[in-house]
Amino acid sequence: MNIRPRRNRMKPFLRDLLSECSVSANDLISPYFLLPPHEKKSPILSMPGQYRYPLKDLLDKLSELVPIGLKGIALFPCVPEDKKNVKATESYNPNHFYQIAIKEIKAKFPDLLIMTDVALDPYSSQGHDGLVDELTGEILNDETIEILVKMSIVQAQSGADLIGPSDMMDGRIGAIRKGLDLAGFSNTAIISYCAKYASHFYGPFRDALDSTPKIGDKKTYQMNYSNRTEAFKELVLDQTEGADIVMVKPGISYLDIVRDFKERSQLPVAAYNVSGEYAMVKAAHEKKWINGPMVMHEMLTSFKRAGCDIILSYFTEEFLKDEFFV
Ligand code: PBG
Repeated sequence: MNIRPRRNRMKPFLRDLLSECSVSANDLISPYFLLPPHEKKSPILSMPGQYRYPLKDLLDKLSELVPIGLKGIALFPCVPEDKKNVKATESYNPNHFYQIAIKEIKAKFPDLLIMTDVALDPYSSQGHDGLVDELTGEILNDETIEILVKMSIVQAQSGADLIGPSDMMDGRIGAIRKGLDLAGFSNTAIISYCAKYASHFYGPFRDALDSTPKIGDKKTYQMNYSNRTEAFKELVLDQTEGADIVMVKPGISYLDIVRDFKERSQLPVAAYNVSGEYAMVKAAHEKKWINGPMVMHEMLTSFKRAGCDIILSYFTEEFLKDEFFV
């Protein structure tokens, strides 16, 4: 045999030198769940190691992680039930605790990227990402967009760096881009949840926010997980409408779409390593059925191998703290 692929695998230094991709702190954004200031930090049971934080505790957490390389966070508000309503009006209240937190985090950590969430579900008493027609139960696209634009502007005013529409309404990227530009925020970027699938991997996230839809599901706006071509259609639209970064969500079961986006688009590609993916690793590790930290590393690397520029992952903190990986 003159060709022996195993020769390149014989020594650790060779394996390291020949490694085609790797994960670093520069690839990761950590999602956080934010409570109103008077509430106490509380664990999310279906996501071991993850908490809902009031601002004070979140600032402490960031003081710990920014010096060891944390580059960005994605913030999601846990809105108390009595502040939710059918029109999701708290979503664009400039004095809402979410906006105040963005301002304070930005003031304390000017070099940390803050990504926001733009969708109605945390603020909607019905738990949907859009407004619900009272009579038919239909999710109203164009009426929802008006609110999403208001939300985006308020978030940009608070100092957000990256606006993250996660709602999947048609035409929202273009409308938000136009709204931001008219309000003087032409430098505020948009990361579009471009191919967001209707997924059961979101279960623990909905526990965290108590945002499970009260009636029906999200299948009239989030995509059918059987579909690939439909993702290209969304990609073309979001590019044309002015997205700066396109995201695929969930991550692990959708890395084929990440690869497709990387090959078809000049935009940076992100993926969301979602709550259910995190929960599965944690649960199997607790049962001692897998080695959690090693599986985490393999998972994050597979995002890079597929072509991701950015990974949103609940593993970020663990990754930053694990000396084995840094
Ligand atoms: C909703 C939203 C969801 C996630 C992020 N934004 C859930 C949903 O669509 O119901 C899920 C993230 C995760 O599971 O980690 N706008």
